[in-house]
Amino acid sequence: RLHEGLDIPDWFTYPEVIDELRRTHPPRHRQGFTVFFTGLSGAGKSTLANALLVRLLELGTRPVTLLDGDIVRKHLSSELGFSREHRDLNVQRIGFVASEITKNGGIAICAPIAPYAQARKTVREMVAHYGMFVETHVSTPIDVCEQRDRKGLYALARAGKIKEFTGVSDPYEAPESPELRIDTSDIGPDEAVQRIVLKLESLGLIR
Ligand code: PPS
Repeated sequence: RLHEGLDIPDWFTYPEVIDELRRTHPPRHRQGFTVFFTGLSGAGKSTLANALLVRLLELGTRPVTLLDGDIVRKHLSSELGFSREHRDLNVQRIGFVASEITKNGGIAICAPIAPYAQARKTVREMVAHYGMFVETHVSTPIDVCEQRDRKGLYALARAGKIKEFTGVSDPYEAPESPELRIDTSDIGPDEAVQRIVLKLESLGLIR
């Protein structure tokens, strides 16, 4: 009885209780978590998400799943458009998958536009039940996104050929207190990923 004379309750040293606690409360660096990128089209979400994916796979601590906007739209939300209702449903589906991954100890990287604060809050709550939710606002200003116009969508939106285009003819509600904010007009992908990794380290999620 190692704890004799100490003010520690008896049950505390029962091995089965400790085993159960180990199972239900693994240390942070072994729990699942979700990195959720949000930002305008062309802000750099996919580039950062892919670079982070590579970095986390190199670390090799847990399985990593990328839920990129375009990929989810193709495989999980192909019937949805861009009304508020459809965007919210799309983001909710992403949140559900991310929460399942987090629950099972994996890492989910999500990269939708997710323009509505309420939908992001719902996803945060779904994930936070099982692990940490690291919201990362890719805050590249719209003029930079529009100058890049990698997919030519801003030009089409300005010409009225795409309706409800985020930032042009549809709202984007910027997160008020994300865990991270990254403007890709200031820094390149390597530095951005380094900042995310430092954040994950400071949260105890990776070592
Ligand atoms: S959302 O709002 O979170 O459901 O959007 P998401 O699933 O991330 O899809 C965004 C990508 O769809 C293309 N696209 C549009 N974006 C915004 N508004 C409109 N109307 C639109 N129509 C098509 C666009 O390529 C987005 O990709 P990214 O990678 O963000 O540029």
